[in-house]
Amino acid sequence: MDSPLLADARALRPDLVAWRRHLHMHPELSYQEQATAAFVRERLAALGLEASPPMAGGTGLTCTIHGVEDGPTVALRADMDALPIQEDSSAPYVSKAPGVAHLCGHDAHTTMLIGAGALLARQRPARGHVRLLFQPAEEAGAGAARMIEDGALDAVAAIYALHVDPRTPVGHTGTTVGPANAAADEIAIEVTGAGGHAAYPHLSVDAVAVAAQVVTAIQHVVSRHSDPLEPLVVTIGTIQGGFASNVIAPSVRMTGTVRTFGPELRKAMPARLERVIHAVAAAHGATATLDVRFGYPATVNDGSLLPDFEASVAAVMGEGRNAQMAPTMGAEDFAYYAQRVPGMIARLGVRNEALGFSHPLHHPRFDLDEDALPLGAALLADVARRWLAGARR
Ligand code: NI
Repeated sequence: MDSPLLADARALRPDLVAWRRHLHMHPELSYQEQATAAFVRERLAALGLEASPPMAGGTGLTCTIHGVEDGPTVALRADMDALPIQEDSSAPYVSKAPGVAHLCGHDAHTTMLIGAGALLARQRPARGHVRLLFQPAEEAGAGAARMIEDGALDAVAAIYALHVDPRTPVGHTGTTVGPANAAADEIAIEVTGAGGHAAYPHLSVDAVAVAAQVVTAIQHVVSRHSDPLEPLVVTIGTIQGGFASNVIAPSVRMTGTVRTFGPELRKAMPARLERVIHAVAAAHGATATLDVRFGYPATVNDGSLLPDFEASVAAVMGEGRNAQMAPTMGAEDFAYYAQRVPGMIARLGVRNEALGFSHPLHHPRFDLDEDALPLGAALLADVARRWLAGARR
């Protein structure tokens, strides 16, 4: 038998589907979520909930739902931005924005958080407060960090979030305790040689040939210089140089990403890469520079938040529906919240192979089973109520 919360969530399903499809058809890139934020404000207002002034660059907002009695505050977070990818879908709700689409499910995250607000507005917690965080720019630009700068976590004692997961069947969830998502840092390497005629390599310094050796040599930093038991990825994603097939390129520029979990390894990587890059370039008479831009830190989920989450999954979806999942090298800016207060981001199953919902996140054909929407909304509302009921502060 359904809990009152789940019964309410099921009754909300037509609204949730309509909201999600509206957002899906009108995706916006990081820090451009004006229409999305306006839509969230309208929906919250219609529920009798008051949103904060704009924050985090203008498209972020929060909304606090007050319990009957004063008490601690627990936060729930949704990200709102889409990806610069052309969607490949024949669904009636396909993206109307050329080259932009919700292929990471943030339309569902936003929808479920409005839905959780609707449920909590009807069944207010007995004690304490729930703050809904609608953040911009998860995909690029660390929207979470700017939300925190603007006070989104002030007085918050714990934070939960859901991310849709196309590997997990709808009606199931997954959690990872401890390190869950890797830190992601950007690197740019510039190799400088000396250009010349392609027929006379001995009279020039071939930056393409040196760059090729640099690419393979830095994989030794992963396989030979680092503890094999510690996760580490270095990927060169772009490589550019040269003008013509019969001209030796004077320089090559490459960009890539470094993924780590351990803070010590993360800190050590720039120097380790630099040593190899400089030495390989020097061995061939070239020079090279390395630029590192530190990005999202690793996301570390707090195990103390797991029992309430598991209890909520059991209440909303049934016993045995939450699985422990391995960490991933993908990054997630929820990391910034979890650095400040105990946090947990869990995976919400949206897979349904029979309906064709099995493509991975960021795939042009990614789509999700909308049965997950009422489940996710109920889960968020339930875990917030449960955490507040158990909080001894
Ligand atoms: Ni995402």
